[in-house]
Amino acid sequence: MIVLGISAYYHDSSAAIINDGVIVAAVQEERFTRVKQTADLPIYSISYCLEEAGIEMSELDAVVFYENPVLKFDRSLSLGLGRYHISKDYQNKLFSKYILQKLAIPQELREVFGQLGKNDLLYTVPHHYSHAASAFYPSPFEESAILILDGVGEWSTTSIGVGKGKKLELTHSIDFPNSLGLLYSAFTYYCGFKVNSGEYKLMGLAPYGEAKYVKLIKDNIVEIFEDGSFSLNLEYFDFLDKEIIASSKFDLLFKIKARKSETKIEIKYIDIAASIQDVVEEIIIKLAKNLAKNTKQKNLVMAGGVALNCSANGKLLLEEIFENIWIQPASGDAGGSLGSALSYYYAQSKTPRKVENTNDSQKSSLLGPEYDSETIQEYLRFSNLPFHLCEDYNLLIDKIARYIDDGKIIGHFSGRMEYGPRALGSRSIIGDARDIKMQNQMNLKIKYRESFRPFAPAVLEEEAKNYFDLNSKSPYMLIVANVKTDKLINNTTKITDPKNILDQINEPRSIIPAVTHIDNSARVQTVSKDQNRRFYDILHRFNELTGCPICINTSFNVRGEPIVCTPEDAYRCFMRTEIDILILENCILIKEEQPIRNKDDNWKDEYELD
Ligand SMILES: [Fe+2]
Repeated sequence: MIVLGISAYYHDSSAAIINDGVIVAAVQEERFTRVKQTADLPIYSISYCLEEAGIEMSELDAVVFYENPVLKFDRSLSLGLGRYHISKDYQNKLFSKYILQKLAIPQELREVFGQLGKNDLLYTVPHHYSHAASAFYPSPFEESAILILDGVGEWSTTSIGVGKGKKLELTHSIDFPNSLGLLYSAFTYYCGFKVNSGEYKLMGLAPYGEAKYVKLIKDNIVEIFEDGSFSLNLEYFDFLDKEIIASSKFDLLFKIKARKSETKIEIKYIDIAASIQDVVEEIIIKLAKNLAKNTKQKNLVMAGGVALNCSANGKLLLEEIFENIWIQPASGDAGGSLGSALSYYYAQSKTPRKVENTNDSQKSSLLGPEYDSETIQEYLRFSNLPFHLCEDYNLLIDKIARYIDDGKIIGHFSGRMEYGPRALGSRSIIGDARDIKMQNQMNLKIKYRESFRPFAPAVLEEEAKNYFDLNSKSPYMLIVANVKTDKLINNTTKITDPKNILDQINEPRSIIPAVTHIDNSARVQTVSKDQNRRFYDILHRFNELTGCPICINTSFNVRGEPIVCTPEDAYRCFMRTEIDILILENCILIKEEQPIRNKDDNWKDEYELD
């Protein structure tokens, strides 16, 4: 049974295709259109998935959409007709967004691809069942508790349930407008970052601050109950009426106006970031405790946008409420396409679900397009770009490891592209984690992004326990763990004067300073031999040469740009930034050897700042 899943028209559109429950391909539309988190109907992603599966749209057993547009409209409509005041303009916008656009999907798809599967139908799966299926079915667990932490789907914002074998059931939900995702997004907006993409920055900022406002937030903005359920004080939110979601009451409460983006970050915003992070962690931990008590499960799976909060995930792991936790790497709405396809398949299939107890079936999330060496060479020759072909695999790995040791910053492009927001080695910029200047250099000269943002370490899986307080695998870079005390060289002090943030970033805190955050934590990616062979070999060789099994791994893009997909995207990013070496499969490109170009700052116009 071959099933295609589609997520579209909210944010981060994507498509995924599965064959008898096995994931064949999954990809986000932004990678093709080069518009970050595009909500467009994912025409390119669908084409790629069909091609990868070698099938026409009309031959599919089913085409599935990741949410129920009618239920979603029910929410929008009830807002319009209910107790809230909504402007006429906004009502019209909601109507066209939620109904006209979504009702047109089957026809739009037919116009491009013809008949929608054997039955010419577009099936739908409720939003949180899509998230839940994306978390449970690829997990390595025969059974587990399920926790969906989201902004909003149709009505549900938080859902809990249980998966056993093929069966998945969501038993309880917290509904709109009470939403953990929208709560965090309101603070993201208030602290001057972009909603739906800047949440990561808020999380990155939090460790610099002191959680001084936890009580103020809990007394005024969100009431938390013992079972983890919560209630928002709607006076503080404008999302019922417009898209700016923190109301002016925030200004009065914190006695500071909402920060304008790209302006100086006052210490108060940093403390507010620390405080909301604490509040969200308290809710998640309480929800998890209640879930464990009620389900008696020892495993937990998670998805939904808030499940990408790696700091909260790290704290949850430390609580040891569950023995094992697996989080869908495409936890945001991009994962909905995969989840809806899996949900449909397991509801229809007669065959039992097979679980490999050690590994998940997410295939390291390397589920996107790949380009072989011949194709890359053809492109490089056609474009007259100088490169060195290295056909000996071991020599290539050795060269890459030596470049890192020499302090070079490398654009690494190899194999299938990652599905989900994190680069895991296939479309990554890598560098030396031991180099104290690397964080600042990479932020300002490579990524062109805020200097406070930390970088993540990729570490050999078997060495992770020697460097981090981490007792589990973290192959998808979704867990923050502390750097081990014996690897620290300085005790961190919190930021007291924001003017000195940069100085404090540049203070060495551990023997891997470029990936050690101000609170001595790190967002760890563990790399194993069987799940990501080439990246593992690079780290392994680097360890042999230097005694350090870790390198910096950050996504291959500049600020606001989707992760590179094609060799052309990679070359453009290489030439626009101070990346020293570009590795395209087994082709090595050295910056100094490339044709001289005028300084290309076009990316600033091409991509909207995130
Ligand atoms: Fe969602």
